Parts: sequence; C-alpha cells; structure tokens
Amino acid sequence: MPQPLPSSAPKACIIGFPARHSRSPLIHRFWLRQHAIAGDYGFAEVSPDDFPGFIRDLASNGYVGGNVTVPHKETAFGLVHDATATARALGAVNTLWFEDGRLMGDNTDVAGFLASLDADAPGWDVRTPTATVLGAGGAARAVVYGLLARGVERIHIVNRTLARAQALAEHFGQLFPGRQIAGAGWDALPGLLPASSLLVNTTSMGMHGQPTLDVDPETLPETALVTDIVYVPLETPLLAAARQRGLRTVGGLGMLLHQAAPGFARWFGMTPVVSRALYDDVVADL
Ligand code: ATR
Repeated sequence: MPQPLPSSAPKACIIGFPARHSRSPLIHRFWLRQHAIAGDYGFAEVSPDDFPGFIRDLASNGYVGGNVTVPHKETAFGLVHDATATARALGAVNTLWFEDGRLMGDNTDVAGFLASLDADAPGWDVRTPTATVLGAGGAARAVVYGLLARGVERIHIVNRTLARAQALAEHFGQLFPGRQIAGAGWDALPGLLPASSLLVNTTSMGMHGQPTLDVDPETLPETALVTDIVYVPLETPLLAAARQRGLRTVGGLGMLLHQAAPGFARWFGMTPVVSRALYDDVVADL
C-alpha cells in the first residue's frame, strides 16, 4: 500500500488546457519513485480564464512550481516575477518555481532539444553550419534559439505561412546579429535541402492522425542529421525515410524527457538522469 504523503511533501503539476494527455506526470513520478522522494506531480487542467488566478494561488495551494503547456506558455511569461534569458528570448515559459517567494520562469524546451541531440548524435553541433527548421510556431522558436545559442551560422525557417517564418527570422536576427537567418515558404524547401547539415521538423505533421510531411530526404547531404520533435509514432515517416537513406536520425521523445529534468531539479532538489528505463516506461504508455 502506498503511504499517504506528508502534508509538507513538495508537489508540482502540469498546467494546460487540456492537460490529461500529458506524459509529464509519468516522467516525474518515475524519478520520484526511483529516488524515493516523498513528493508528487499531477495534472491541472486550467482554462485560459482561470489561469492567472491559478498561478496567483500556486504557492498557497501547496505547489513548489510546475510545468506550463499549451495554450498558457506566453501568458505564464507575463505573470512571472523573473525569467531566465532563454525564456525572455522566447517570450514563453514552460517551467515555474519559487525563489525567495518570487515566481520564476524558464523555458526548458531549448535545453531539452539540445540535450537530446547531444545524447543521441554527439558532436552534431560542430558538423552543423546550416540548419533548416520546418515550422514557425512555439516549438520552432525553442529549436531556432537553441541552434543559434550553439553557434549554428545559417538557419532557414520554412513554414506554410511565409509571414510567420519571416517574423521569426527577423526576431532572432536582432538577437543574433551577424548570423544568417531567413524565412521561406514550403516551395523553397527542395532548393534548401542539398545544403542543409541538419533538418528539424517542429510541426505536428507526421504525428498519428495528422498529414504526413511531404519532404524527400534523398537530396540532403549524406552527412546530414534529421530530427523530429514528434514522438507519436516514435519513428515518423520523415525519420523512417531518412534512416532508409542511411542518414543519422534523432526522434522527438528525447526532447520531452530532457526538458523535464531541470524542473525536477528545482522542485525536488536533485538532477535526475534520462535513462533507458525511463525511456522504456514512457514508450510503454504511448
Ligand atoms: P507549436 O507551439 O507546437 O509549434 P503552433 O504554434 O500551433 O504549435 O505551430 C504549429 C506549426 O506547424 C506552424 O508552423 C504551422 O504552420 P502555419 O504557421 O502555417 O500554421 C505548422 N503546421 C501545422 N499543421 C500544418 C499543415 N497541415 N501543413 C503545414 N504546416 C502545418
């Protein structure tokens, strides 16, 4: 029989609308069990209208912090007392915690994306002068910022809605003067692939139930790395085509697992490891 938690046990939660589909509780509860920490991590399904009040009462309701997901990441950024440089560059927050009673915010999607590439494709950054990023939403923001922070020189942001790609390119062009960052429409993609050392899909295309990406990895350089932030299925049609061509690939589940670790460290006081056992546990639930 599980013992009831002491009332002082730290608890955190995933705040979204919806939130029930999230795998974050599975990840954090795995680490809590692994390290025998008396704490909890749950779901908080909170509508946009209720979100500011929920955040205001976070500490008085016993939370040491939490994760924030769709559609609240930008609103959360506006509600924190202070944010990391990464969160400020993205204008969005996915991790909340308290320091001296002040609500702090970070965006760990960036560190999660980079850690996942470091783990599964070590040395990728020195081999990446030019990256092509598909999509221009919130996930693309995190990916583009991470690539720029790691020193990638040229980034093409390719998106169905050209204006969104251009706006993102301009935003990051101001933050990273001297880098080449350009927005483009889908029709430009075939011309960009032969010179792309890294291709990242940040759109939901290729996810179960969504249309498949119409991207042919045949013309990518043979040293190219192809990554996808989609993790259902674990190997998207894009990754399968790239692998069949002999290219290196990295799936999206690693990013989800790695983005969780910094929050756990802040709430529960120790940095957890993204292990094979955790990966297998989450895969069993997909
Ligand atoms: P997220 O925060 O997960 O990135 P988002 O902000 O809604 O979500 O962005 C979704 C991205 O996927 C966008 O780049 C979107 O393209 P548009 O800006 O043109 O809307 C892209 N996307 C989603 N479905 C798509 C589809 N069927 N075809 C092409 N692009 C698609």
